[in-house]
Amino acid sequence: MKFFIDTANLDQIREAQELGVLDGVTTNPSLMAKEGITGRNNILKHYVDICNIVDGDVSAEVIATEFNAIVKEGEELAELHDQIVVKVPMIKDGVKALKYFSDKGIRTNCTLVFSAGQALLAAKAGATYVSPFIGRLDDISTDGLNLIAEIRHIYDNYAFETQILAASIRHTMHVIDCAKVGADVMTGGLSSITGLLKHPLTDIGLEKFLADYKKGN
Ligand code: E4P
Repeated sequence: MKFFIDTANLDQIREAQELGVLDGVTTNPSLMAKEGITGRNNILKHYVDICNIVDGDVSAEVIATEFNAIVKEGEELAELHDQIVVKVPMIKDGVKALKYFSDKGIRTNCTLVFSAGQALLAAKAGATYVSPFIGRLDDISTDGLNLIAEIRHIYDNYAFETQILAASIRHTMHVIDCAKVGADVMTGGLSSITGLLKHPLTDIGLEKFLADYKKGN
């Protein structure tokens, strides 16, 4: 399972990268705004800064919603760095753009996916990644994890190569549950990754080992 961090915060990206388990980064316009990154040039520069920190794929989201404009913006993003994956929303012109990018060898991440039908369309259009937002489904009392399982089942039936990128991960149990049902990638905040480290018995056990060592030395 690949681990992506879902943030535009460079310090958090560095921390996850230094842990040695990071495979990539996802961003979105809200995450950029949260870090105070505004204006086209600053946003483009920020994507390059992120690429220079991590080794893996970095999703950069288009703002355009009309086919020609999505293509223009996506091509500009893809030219920024070879780690860039163009993030395209699940809308009609977005699906057309996914197919266009796929034919041109430009990698894509289809975002804002909330149903198995949308995921099927994204795979048919040749998306590299599909991003079902499980936390936002949970927020409206719908089982987000079940969507990941449904998509896994459908993709396996037809050997679709599109990778399932479980997004809107809110906590460590989401990570574990997505791993159980076979998501290819998870993207979440830093705490959803570092939280996996924690267990009280580890802390108690280490404390005792160190105390016992001190007794004999
Ligand atoms: C995915 O790529 C999105 O950036 C993301 O996971 C959204 O998550 P949220 O529901 O926590 O905003």
